[in-house]
Formats: sequence, C-alpha cells, structure tokens
Amino acid sequence: MSNQIPFPRWTPETVGERGTTICNVMVGDRVVTIGYLVSRHLRVLDLEGRIVSRDATGYGGIRTVPSARRQGYLATWYQSAAFLTPPQDVKMLFCLEALVRRNRELGWTILDCVVTYDQPTGRSRMPPHVYAAIIDPLDRINPATLAAVQIQGYPW
Ligand SMILES: CC(C)(COP(=O)(O)OP(=O)(O)OC[C@H]1O[C@@H](n2cnc3c(N)ncnc32)[C@H](O)[C@@H]1OP(=O)(O)O)[C@@H](O)C(=O)NCCC(=O)NCCS
Repeated sequence: MSNQIPFPRWTPETVGERGTTICNVMVGDRVVTIGYLVSRHLRVLDLEGRIVSRDATGYGGIRTVPSARRQGYLATWYQSAAFLTPPQDVKMLFCLEALVRRNRELGWTILDCVVTYDQPTGRSRMPPHVYAAIIDPLDRINPATLAAVQIQGYPW
C-alpha cells in the first residue's frame, strides 16, 4: 500500500433545484470541500452610464471540512468549479470580510461599487460586510470602471 497522500480530485455531484450544480473536491473517498454553482444574469452599469449584460456563474455554499482547512483546498475547489463554468461566463461570489484577502490572493477582484440582487421581496443591496468578487475570463468587465452591478435571479 502506498503512503502517498492521494491527489485531490473533483466530482460534479448532482443537478438540484433550478439547475444548481454541486461540486465536490475529494481526497481519496473523502469529500474535503463542497460548494455549488448557479446561473445568473448581470446588468452592469459603468461610470459613463453604459449598461452591459453578461451571463454569470455564481459560486456559493463553499465549505471545507474543519479537519482539512488551511491546506489549499479552496483554490482546488475554484479550479474544479471553473471546469463546470461555461467559458464565456463571468464568475461571481459573495464573501465575508475575513475571506477578502485570501480571495484576492486567489485572483478574485473585490467590487467596491453598489451591488444589488433579487429577493422574493424585491431588490436588495449587498450588506456592507459582504463583498462581491468577480472574475471575467474574457476581460469584458473592468471592475475599476463599474458604477453598479445588478444580479438578476435570486441570490445564491
Ligand atoms: C472559508 C473556507 C471555505 C476556506 O477553505 P480552506 O480549504 O481552508 O481554504 P485555504 O486552504 O485556502 O485556507 C484558508 C486559510 O488558510 C491558509 N492556508 C492555505 N493553505 C495553507 C497551508 N498549506 N498551510 C497553512 N495555511 C494555509 C490561507 O492562507 C488562508 O489563511 P487566512 O484565512 O489567514 O487568509 C473554510 O475555512 C470554511 O469552510 N469556512 C466555513 C464556511 C465559510 O465561511 N465559507 C465561506 C463563506 S463566504
């Protein structure tokens, strides 16, 4: 039997309600990190008043089991999720203050413009301690020029 630590691999597990895809990072037969992907639509207003629309994939519910934390599996999860994300989609996530630095290190840009999202009760504004982070693989959105982002469809 080998003493080597098994290399992490990933599996898309299921398609749930409203097309939610679950992505698991596995080490051997153990799930270490889980999260889900949802399809959303963005309306983006830039500082010159132009509005553009973009398809987006939102990442949410990301969680590493406590015994596997601080070993880099968050980055593995993002890489795995990227394989499940349509290549033209903007990638988005919401994160708390404590994860802003780590997410910047992992390549995300934290938005400092107004971000709103749909709720069953109407449109809500992102609370101040929650940040939206974004990656546009095709560089069609320059975060520095954004005035507002509307996320259409319920949040994740
Ligand atoms: C947030 C969470 C998903 C991070 O998962 P993770 O797999 O531990 O992520 P990382 O391995 O990148 O580790 C994160 C931290 O460990 C550090 N780290 C990463 N690899 C490391 C290693 N090999 N050795 C030591 N430290 C390491 C990172 O620098 C980072 O430190 P920081 O928090 O001080 O910035 C996990 O902590 C978690 O499940 N938290 C509860 C749920 C949650 O908050 N989800 C996010 C909602 S916004």
